[in-house]
Amino acid sequence: MSQTYERWIKWRNDALANPKLQRFLASFPLTRPVANAKARQTFGIVSGFVSSQIMQACIELDLLELLRPAPLSAEAIAARCDLPVDATLTLLKAASAINLLETLRDGRFALGGDGAAMLGNPGIAEMIMHHRALYLDLADPVALLRRGGGGGTLANFWTYGGDDQAIAERYSTLMAASQPMIAGQVLDAYTLRGHPRLLDIGGGEGAFLAEVAVRWPQLDLTLFDLPMVAARAGERLGTKARVVGGSFIDDPLPEGADIITLIRVLHDHDDGVAQALLNKVYNALPPRGTLLIAEPMAQTPGARAMGHGYFGMYLLAMGSGRPRTPDELKSMLAKAGFSSVRLISTRTPLTCRVIIATR
Ligand SMILES: C[S@@+](CC[C@H](N)C(=O)[O-])C[C@H]1O[C@@H](n2cnc3c(N)ncnc32)[C@H](O)[C@@H]1O
Repeated sequence: MSQTYERWIKWRNDALANPKLQRFLASFPLTRPVANAKARQTFGIVSGFVSSQIMQACIELDLLELLRPAPLSAEAIAARCDLPVDATLTLLKAASAINLLETLRDGRFALGGDGAAMLGNPGIAEMIMHHRALYLDLADPVALLRRGGGGGTLANFWTYGGDDQAIAERYSTLMAASQPMIAGQVLDAYTLRGHPRLLDIGGGEGAFLAEVAVRWPQLDLTLFDLPMVAARAGERLGTKARVVGGSFIDDPLPEGADIITLIRVLHDHDDGVAQALLNKVYNALPPRGTLLIAEPMAQTPGARAMGHGYFGMYLLAMGSGRPRTPDELKSMLAKAGFSSVRLISTRTPLTCRVIIATR
């Protein structure tokens, strides 16, 4: 079976790489739409960086906000952004071509559909600006691969456990900005009714717990994170939650919760650390206690480029962790001792999937 499949791959690839066949597929009426769709897909990959940078220019120049109230002419936009008019026009047309803006018949520019959707989610703009660090590391992808990951700008951005307050503040602010699009999905996917005590490990500045407190005010909440991050969470959460500073690698976990959450935590860590954390969580839970894992996962149907594509390279640049498939997480959970493990559906699996495990 596998040899037959390999022979088929070889035959298919020889055919697709043949320029004569390519010309035929593009000119024959029945195959032309397929050939064009493939060409568009390939061009999307080839030009992806340019589209990202068009988007970055729009965010950095605050163009989307500028056009939120009403359309403007290129001249007015150029004056507001302090750019030459011709260059501004190039950017405005480029941003219209990828639907961030829209060119009106009278030549002015309005906010486009995708641009408006981005305004509704400020976390996206923060992520786009943060991509400067990722793209610096990816400017030479082979060098990054040869050094086995890390060692660049992103590794300095995510320095867990260091004593630099500014670093903790930078990554915690970024995480808090993107947390609303995660918290809503998690809390819609899984009801916390019936759980008296929740512990959020690696809870960052407390953005997730702040949302939990709104929806489930009777829940007793504890956040655990590295001391410098926990201090920020304490300021944000006030009396809404108990905040404990420590490392899940070296310190014991706070006791007493019947549900523990790991939101966008596991994928940051290599297998050894991630498995040790799951074992620790298992031991900290009472019998029938629950673990909720929420993070983007590899091999997500319809979003495969997000998992091993985006997060694979992102975490490589960061120098720690890897995206995991639900099955990989399930087998790690079984190894930790969890008896029942299930993947539950979320609204936008591209940004977050949820696994519920019971001790
Ligand atoms: C990617 S952030 C996610 C934050 C938050 N859960 C969210 O989704 O917005 C990972 C968090 O894990 C924390 N963390 C990393 N290593 C840790 C450790 N050894 N012990 C405790 N927390 C840690 C970081 O400080 C950070 O707040």
